[in-house]
Amino acid sequence: EVMDLQDKLGRGVRDLRISVTDRCNFRCRYCMPAEVFGPGYAFLPKDDLLTFEEMVRLVRILVPLGVGKIRLTGGEPLLRRGVADLVAMIAAVDGVHDLAMTTNGVLLSHHAEELALAGMNRVTVSLDSLDPAIFARMNGTGAKVDRVIAGILAAKNFGLPVKVNSVIQRGVNEDQILPLARWAREADVDLRFIEYMDVGETNGWDMSQVVPGAEILEILGTEFELQPRAAAYRGEVAVNWKHLGSRQEIGLIQSVSSPFCRDCQRLRLSADGKIFTCLFAESGHDLRGILRGGLGDRMVSSVVEDIWRARVDRYSELRGKVAMKKAEMSYLGG
Ligand code: GTP
Ligand code: 5AD
Ligand code: SF4
Ligand code: SF4
Repeated sequence: EVMDLQDKLGRGVRDLRISVTDRCNFRCRYCMPAEVFGPGYAFLPKDDLLTFEEMVRLVRILVPLGVGKIRLTGGEPLLRRGVADLVAMIAAVDGVHDLAMTTNGVLLSHHAEELALAGMNRVTVSLDSLDPAIFARMNGTGAKVDRVIAGILAAKNFGLPVKVNSVIQRGVNEDQILPLARWAREADVDLRFIEYMDVGETNGWDMSQVVPGAEILEILGTEFELQPRAAAYRGEVAVNWKHLGSRQEIGLIQSVSSPFCRDCQRLRLSADGKIFTCLFAESGHDLRGILRGGLGDRMVSSVVEDIWRARVDRYSELRGKVAMKKAEMSYLGG
């Protein structure tokens, strides 16, 4: 039985996103610009990271509060040593019905098989361009698009359903919308276009770089016949369409032009064990100290319950009306 835990706006907690590392092998300009996240950047020291045991303990504590969906993120989660062991440990927890990972895909072909065997349900791969030059520019490291595509195919090959996420930035990759849609249809993967967001303090976001979902849809409409489909579950972030006559879906994540805070049931756990109740929160609540302080599960649970009951976050609905310092997404988890 699941507790009827609600925040101040009547939202439950369903979805836990665990950042397993704040490091990444990409330097996407919209997330970890190389001039900020350079060789001298102070990433979290190893001792500050939650252990797999601590993460799984938290998962066990959160399931009775309503969490059933877990996503491993980062940074790049495949950089965390032994992450497939964590997958197996979480998959074994009763009540976890959906276990996914968000990855940049560049190491996925090496890990797809062990992830599938460990009990991962599906993967989400970020891919912003099929054009090698645009892709290299966007990921900031020159990483090759072919390796990401190989990772996607490997995942499918081992039975993992794949969704692809593409962040669209005006003047950078809007000419990739149609090529990505054609490719996704051919490759039989679901594709979602994401509006460029003002996460963190380092990407220099401004509204003129956002391509609104409506405009993306218009571009897609010049070539594809799309049928809207209803939300698959309450709080689904993407609005989705089906290609006429196929199973494959195309979606829009419009957190700038059409915020979805009203149904936001997501809780984020940073790699160093802080709980964030919003992607745009200024700071998190330290749980690592509590986990390491010898408290029993009941006490840890009541700390989380209190945090959730006090939650009023709805940043995307307030954008432009509030000023605050935001944590980096690579640290707190996409
Ligand atoms: P599914 O479970 O596959 O439906 O995934 P999801 O809808 O949770 O989407 P995913 O985890 O792939 O997130 C896709 C992108 O949506 C993220 O990388 C963010 O850019 C954006 N996003 C996800 N959650 C939030 C959120 O809580 N707030 C905002 N503003 N954006 C979010
Ligand atoms: N705006 C929108 N999406 C972003 N992501 C990272 N930074 C941003 C941003 N500023 C996306 C990545 C990936 C996921 C982890 O978050 O592209 O798909
Ligand atoms: Fe790394 Fe993902 Fe951020 Fe790109 S968006 S720098 S791949 S964490
Ligand atoms: Fe949830 Fe915050 Fe995103 Fe709104 S802005 S959907 S409250 S994480």
